[in-house]
Amino acid sequence: MFVTVAATLGLAASVLATPPRLGGVNTARYDFSVSTDGYDTLPYTQPPLYQYRHFSAEGANLYRIPFAWKLATPTLGDALNTTFFAQYDQNVQAALATNAYVIVDVHNYARWNGEIINQGGPTIERFASLWSQIAAYYQSEQRVIFGIMNEPHDLPDDTLWPPAVQGAINAIRAAGATTQYILMPGSNWTSAADMPTVMGPLLLNITDPATPGSTEYLLFDVHRYLDYDNSGTHSACVTNNTEILQNLVTWLKANGGRQAILSETGGGRNDSSCYTMLGEELAFIKANYPYTVGFSAWAAGAFDDTYVLSLTPTNETVDAPLWDYTILPNLPAATYTA
Ligand SMILES: *[C@@H]1O[C@H](CO)[C@@H](O)[C@H](O)[C@H]1NC(C)=O
Ligand SMILES: *[C@@H]1O[C@H](CO)[C@@H](O)[C@H](O)[C@H]1NC(C)=O
Ligand SMILES: *[C@@H]1O[C@H](CO)[C@@H](O)[C@H](O)[C@H]1NC(C)=O
Ligand SMILES: *[C@@H]1O[C@H](CO)[C@@H](O)[C@H](O)[C@H]1NC(C)=O
Ligand SMILES: *[C@@H]1O[C@H](CO)[C@@H](O)[C@H](O)[C@H]1NC(C)=O
Ligand SMILES: *[C@@H]1O[C@H](CO)[C@@H](O)[C@H](O)[C@H]1NC(C)=O
Repeated sequence: MFVTVAATLGLAASVLATPPRLGGVNTARYDFSVSTDGYDTLPYTQPPLYQYRHFSAEGANLYRIPFAWKLATPTLGDALNTTFFAQYDQNVQAALATNAYVIVDVHNYARWNGEIINQGGPTIERFASLWSQIAAYYQSEQRVIFGIMNEPHDLPDDTLWPPAVQGAINAIRAAGATTQYILMPGSNWTSAADMPTVMGPLLLNITDPATPGSTEYLLFDVHRYLDYDNSGTHSACVTNNTEILQNLVTWLKANGGRQAILSETGGGRNDSSCYTMLGEELAFIKANYPYTVGFSAWAAGAFDDTYVLSLTPTNETVDAPLWDYTILPNLPAATYTA
């Protein structure tokens, strides 16, 4: 598929890797303890494992599994807490076992205890140390995607963020994970709207030491909700976001055919205003593959069906109306039988 695109763009039509079209859901809980300022209030419990089988049997092939940085390394710069990470890995392995891809997501808003990476908070070396250890853990898992940071926001100096991204990527490759996809988050809460103008231009120059001269394994990470203030906290949808996503796709095409994943999006579980609009948004993502590689909706995992954006099946079996109307029709074909 990418060969065709590359040929259209007049690029060398050789061995460009493109992931399959991806679609699925976030399975949240290991992130519940971390707030948007990067403070953390442990403890935690495990999100349920049955959902990977449930959703993959319907065609889902992407799960994003967020976790709090402090669970992985209780002290900044520490070794991985292997007790925690072994449990986290149970979720990752349960998802991988259904033929899916898994985004390993550090859900920390570019922060640790209120302080920003490379801007008064953790040094690039400490951030890279976390990624070095995670990458070593998953170096042989080709379907693990490294989501290096959830939703950086309110960065005093945008130019200090790309060096942190580059530091994490270098550490991942040096640890032996050389062919996995890596997600590069922008600013403004990983805003899909701002990527082409705010952080995207600064991230275009990020390089991949494992594949010199190529950025095929480096994908842009974007988020977008459908409620009136794009916060993902209201039931009603007011937009299908296609204008914003079209701008993103235009920008990706204009910059050599780069690619992005919509790793958070969503609407009200039972809200009919979303049945059309989220469906249109996800159809747009599907139609613009491989520029838009896919999506993971927010959210299943440990949310019950009273959470406004919940996609958790009722009684572990009955899908949310929103899932049936909008997500199911836009999933890749199922390759897994429960
Ligand atoms: C490591 O993780 C385990 C399991 O979550 C937890 O009980 C333990 O307190 C953690 N260790 C540290 C040093 O935080
Ligand atoms: C995006 O964030 C930058 C700082 O990272 C800020 O200067 C800018 O005003 C923000 N833009 C929007 C639309 O919020
Ligand atoms: C990216 O690299 C190009 C070519 O080396 C350079 O002209 C441009 O200024 C760089 N952009 C940033 C944001 O560093
Ligand atoms: C999104 O909504 C706009 C405005 O209602 C509409 O013109 C457009 O066709 C919709 N996009 C899709 C992909 O359905
Ligand atoms: C959705 O509807 C179900 C069934 O009526 C109900 O149990 C659940 O609480 C509702 N959830 C939300 C978020 O509205
Ligand atoms: C969930 O299970 C309860 C108890 O068995 C039952 O009353 C309810 O109807 C079930 N809900 C759905 C949506 O199947």
